[in-house]
Amino acid sequence: MQSTVQEILRTRVSLRQYAERPIKNEDKDAIIEAAMRAPTAGNMMMYSMIIVSDLALKQRLSETCDHQPFIAKAPLVIVFLADLQRWFDYYQDSGVKDYCKDQGRDFNGPDEADLLLACCDALIAAQNTVISAEALGIGSCYIGDIMENYETHQQLFNLPPYVFPISLLCYGYYPEGERPKPRERFDSQFIVSENTYHGLTEKDREVMFSERAKGFKPQNTLGAKNMGQMIYARKTGADFSLEMARSVQVAMKHWRGKSLADNEA
Ligand SMILES: Cc1cc2nc3c(=O)[nH]c(=O)nc-3n(C[C@H](O)[C@H](O)[C@H](O)COP(=O)(O)O)c2cc1C
Repeated sequence: MQSTVQEILRTRVSLRQYAERPIKNEDKDAIIEAAMRAPTAGNMMMYSMIIVSDLALKQRLSETCDHQPFIAKAPLVIVFLADLQRWFDYYQDSGVKDYCKDQGRDFNGPDEADLLLACCDALIAAQNTVISAEALGIGSCYIGDIMENYETHQQLFNLPPYVFPISLLCYGYYPEGERPKPRERFDSQFIVSENTYHGLTEKDREVMFSERAKGFKPQNTLGAKNMGQMIYARKTGADFSLEMARSVQVAMKHWRGKSLADNEA
């Protein structure tokens, strides 16, 4: 059955339990092709994808990505990486440093802006795979926790300095039976504005969060007295977030340190 793109977008959910059958090769090829066709800044494709087929590696990732066992059970796992290594190696091969000297230009190793652009490329390619997979009856789930434990992931995947794993995606066919219902969103009036940024008042925020706050029950909430405190404890200030902050700082030091050294060399 052919689904329209709008239908796919409306019914997609993050899927964390998969039918226990492998992804057909033709479906896998279509998913990869969807990534390759994604828009990419300057057509530079500043990203890489690593298909994780090794079960032991999947099991390891299910631990290093904040202990999420479903990663090991996903029939298809792909890591999306922001990747400036290829381009800067190519610049080296092409004598760009000498060219810059001759032209009186600075040679700049990859900076923070290049990294953000490469992250855009990687995530846009990733999202293309999500939509392509949905059209084939394959659900998926992003794993942001691949940004944790940088040193371990760098070693596991043999990553050079200008490569940063920005996301991991698990994929598998939807299991038999009813599909999970799409999850609620904030009202678009709080998210979308026209021509200028829409700052919210405290009253606006009260309305915006009121639906979710209804779900707050003061049991098992890590001592939190309201929804804001609970989400902070479970997400923004949780141990996995602290590990992510540490890990990203190490990765950025690597990236920037190497880049500054390259500029000076
Ligand atoms: C950048 C990013 C990171 C995410 N990381 C995780 C994760 O580590 N584990 C997980 O189970 N879901 C993860 N998710 C899925 C979100 O929890 C999910 O998209 C959100 O709850 C909304 O649900 P929906 O996708 O079903 O609409 C992530 C999603 C995004 C976009």
